[in-house]
Amino acid sequence: MAKTVLIVGANRGLGLEFAKQYAADGCNVIATCRRPAEAAELRRVGVTIEALDTSTSSSIEALAKKLADESIDVMICNAGVYGPRSDGLTDMPTEDFDLVMRTNVLGPLRLTLAFAHNVARARGAMVFLSSRMGSIGTMSSSSGIAYRASKAALNAVVKATSLELGKKGVRVMALHPGWVRTDMGGPQASLTPTESVAGMRHVIENASDKHGGFFDNTGATIPW
Ligand SMILES: NC(=O)c1ccc[n+]([C@@H]2O[C@H](COP(=O)([O-])OP(=O)(O)OC[C@H]3O[C@@H](n4cnc5c(N)ncnc54)[C@H](OP(=O)(O)O)[C@@H]3O)[C@@H](O)[C@H]2O)c1
Repeated sequence: MAKTVLIVGANRGLGLEFAKQYAADGCNVIATCRRPAEAAELRRVGVTIEALDTSTSSSIEALAKKLADESIDVMICNAGVYGPRSDGLTDMPTEDFDLVMRTNVLGPLRLTLAFAHNVARARGAMVFLSSRMGSIGTMSSSSGIAYRASKAALNAVVKATSLELGKKGVRVMALHPGWVRTDMGGPQASLTPTESVAGMRHVIENASDKHGGFFDNTGATIPW
């Protein structure tokens, strides 16, 4: 039977590429975005499209209700924002910091709670797009401090999720996609979305760690 893959934030960038590759493999892809009417490229992929804004709990609850009976083999929490492009330790408007934390931390936590039973039913994988910039163990720069703080906090959500869902046979992981040429990564980045997503899909397929891991697109472990 075809695998069901839920991709959150799939109208552009890495989420769109995940949708393309899983659809090309014959998976049943449910792809979400904030504004389906504007998601022309995603519509061309020929997947099921659902509206979802991860910063709004009612939006998450509405989709969870709609998908209540689905078994989800792979759930990819991809939606994220970078926030202020700060250099060094600098202050920033509270609302800018809040938006980064709400999108990159609270959103994924709520998604986890909303779809845990769907992924547990399939004994599937729950995947979170984190970033090497959130690795405290390897941090060597203070740029993008809100983003770094949000991805470090996301990693704590991932680890806690793995402690809960690992017991139910769910593989839970944080992935760093590499530095990728998307709107967020910019044109100078070293990887194409195609290369990055192909690597991450391989990591997802082969990860056996049920207690949470933090990996890059080649499968190398990153220190939390
Ligand atoms: N590109 C890189 O080099 C890189 C490196 C490390 C980690 N990452 C991580 O990888 C993930 C994807 O990055 P990307 O490069 O593809 O970024 P991107 O091109 O900026 O795309 C971000 C995606 O997230 C969606 N999104 C943002 N806020 C949302 C919300 N509240 N609700 C629903 N969707 C929302 C966007 O939708 P809209 O179009 O509606 O805004 C868009 O689809 C992110 O979590 C990012 O932190 C990327």
